[in-house]
Amino acid sequence: MQEQIDQYTAEINAFTPANADELETFRIKFLGTKGIIKDLFEEFKTVGPEEKRTFGKVLNQFKQLAEAKYNELKESLGSEIENTKSEIDLTLPGDGFAVGSRHPLSLIRTEIIDIFKRLGFVVAEGPEIEDDWHNFSALNFPEEHPARDMQDTFFIKKNHGTDDIALRTHTSSVQVRMMENGKPPFRAIMPGRVYRNEAISARAHCFFHQIEGLYIDENVSFSDLKQTLYHFVQELYGEGTQVRFRPSYFPFTEPSAEMDISCTICKGAGCNMCKYTGWVEILGCGMVDPNVLTNCGIDNQKYTGFAFGMGIERIANLKYVIRDLRLFSENDVRFLKQFQTEII
Ligand code: DAH
Repeated sequence: MQEQIDQYTAEINAFTPANADELETFRIKFLGTKGIIKDLFEEFKTVGPEEKRTFGKVLNQFKQLAEAKYNELKESLGSEIENTKSEIDLTLPGDGFAVGSRHPLSLIRTEIIDIFKRLGFVVAEGPEIEDDWHNFSALNFPEEHPARDMQDTFFIKKNHGTDDIALRTHTSSVQVRMMENGKPPFRAIMPGRVYRNEAISARAHCFFHQIEGLYIDENVSFSDLKQTLYHFVQELYGEGTQVRFRPSYFPFTEPSAEMDISCTICKGAGCNMCKYTGWVEILGCGMVDPNVLTNCGIDNQKYTGFAFGMGIERIANLKYVIRDLRLFSENDVRFLKQFQTEII
């Protein structure tokens, strides 16, 4: 037994593990529940009483040696493992740098603005919180007129009077501000967010974006309106896109029209985007009502003009074939990253 212990002692003293696995094998071999020390203690039970005295001491010292060696190695190996972890491995691939992308509405907005800028239009903006005058009254919506209900308004302050305050329901309010604060000629487009009290669905949202257009000068006619919008559509959707004007009603224009374009998705053959008609409506327009000019301090005998307003979401839907309006405001990166473009 003594011989065996001496042999194991030499083995333990000489033991230098290369890694944590080797140390674990050492632990199992000597200190495990079926290990050498356990066996030696079993054997110890069978020796005679005299030997018990000497061997008891030897055996205990041996056990302490094995435990001390194990603990010491465990500690030094542990810190070695830590050190390896904190070393920088330059061969590992780097973390990818996520490049942002432009929101599709921002892309469309810029594209539309660029087309009109080339025609000499300037960009103007107005407040999103608007008073009754700029959103309704100046635009020829008489008080209590049912046309006000066409646009479900979010009121901030409501007295059923001209001092109501609301979230603007359209960007036409910016036309008023522009005309009140300047002198004709005006040639401007006015992009912005608008709000309506609508239940959110694939086809409607409580906020969306519009671009308003205004052109006021001497001798501006309906043909100018038609040609401007025709040119705009060719630029945006490509040569050959057809347009048609349908008579409509807006309080602030007379005559008023809605403009349809040939469906850009099925090219007129019929699809569910155009409800199998081959046409999709993209904007409202008309000649600015003389009352509106007067309300804004413009001489309606001298000046005429046209205006138009379009929802950018609709324009983007047709351009990118997006069928659910909610995608624009959910900011799901899987949606947004499909519009990866050069960041300018
Ligand atoms: N403001 C209208 C709307 O939100 C759109 C519109 C129609 C604007 C005709 C105009 C216009 O400037 O002339 O539905």
